[in-house]
Amino acid sequence: MNYALPSLFALASVVQAILPNNVVTPSTSGSLSAIKYTNVGGSGTYNQVTSMIKGSWPSCTANPSCITTPKQVSGPLAPFNEEMTAVLRGPMTLHNIAVYQPSVNSSSATWKRTSLWQQNSAPDNLVFMNNKGGGASGEWDIGDTIACGGNSQSFANGAFTDAVGSPNAEVHNGNLPNGNEVNIVTATSCTDVPCDGFARGTASHGWAGSKAFVFEFEMPSDGSSTPPAIWLLNQQVVNAAQYGCNCRGMGGQGGCGELDVFEVLPNNLNQGISEIYSFKGATGGGDGNFFARPTGGVVTYMAILDMQTDSIAIQRLSSWDFGQAAMTRSIVDGYLGVPSKLVSFAAGNKRRSERPKFMHRRTMH
Ligand SMILES: *[C@@H]1O[C@H](CO)[C@@H](O)[C@H](O)[C@H]1NC(C)=O
Repeated sequence: MNYALPSLFALASVVQAILPNNVVTPSTSGSLSAIKYTNVGGSGTYNQVTSMIKGSWPSCTANPSCITTPKQVSGPLAPFNEEMTAVLRGPMTLHNIAVYQPSVNSSSATWKRTSLWQQNSAPDNLVFMNNKGGGASGEWDIGDTIACGGNSQSFANGAFTDAVGSPNAEVHNGNLPNGNEVNIVTATSCTDVPCDGFARGTASHGWAGSKAFVFEFEMPSDGSSTPPAIWLLNQQVVNAAQYGCNCRGMGGQGGCGELDVFEVLPNNLNQGISEIYSFKGATGGGDGNFFARPTGGVVTYMAILDMQTDSIAIQRLSSWDFGQAAMTRSIVDGYLGVPSKLVSFAAGNKRRSERPKFMHRRTMH
């Protein structure tokens, strides 16, 4: 009797994970190559911003001024299944950024490249923003009375230091100076298609559902003590006020979602950590587990947020072909299966970080 034939058929009917060829030597403690959050989603509420009330500058006495209403969410990745933006803080040199998403939320869907930016090139469905609204683009006041919500988003200039009047009006060479922040959004504005939650100024859509962000970058040590960072936020945070009235939630309240992908902290400028925050609480890589800061060359990191497996994987790769227009589900499964520092975000394993967030300042004119 020959059993080979039936078992071959059985194999063919299951999508097999394929081990990708650009995984770096696994390290799952200390200096990490990969961290994976499981049991990410949950059922709960966050305070969605529905309005920002005008006040009078400089007293800002409108009370309340930040109007919120509880929004109920549930399901895989929730609230990280909602639209998200990626924020970057210098000193950093950015080389390439790509975003991949399945075109349907099904277990076999191929993930297609939906956004791309390469150094010194015009991006595809990706816009660099910053929080300098009120000058060349965006707004600082709402309507005819000055509001006290601070700057809205604006379109970032080529040097990432100021605002310009239209999306990607200047070519970006990728040098993000010490202390400057930019974030990326899609090319669809909230004026074109209405956004969830309160949106003002240049507000835009982020990437919803399952998504993978790939970043190729350096974090040079330029002698300054500003810690560079890459983190993801619910798009609604920047559409209201990243450093003011927003749904992020701090302290015991929880919120609409933040994922620190690679955050260097002031107390150790050679290490980048990862943490995750939502209405469920917070957790992270834990003491002594970190990504080595790339001060001496380019590195590639991918953050995969996957609804199918309710997990988020952040991992270092040896390289990435940014010309690659798609990756099959089996390759996605291969990345999700890479040996990683495993962190459960399940109920019962939640910790509210006591660590103060660096530079969560509010900018005002
Ligand atoms: C996948 O599901 C999420 C959450 O329900 C949704 O926001 C997103 O639009 C879906 N994506 C696709 C491509 O259908």
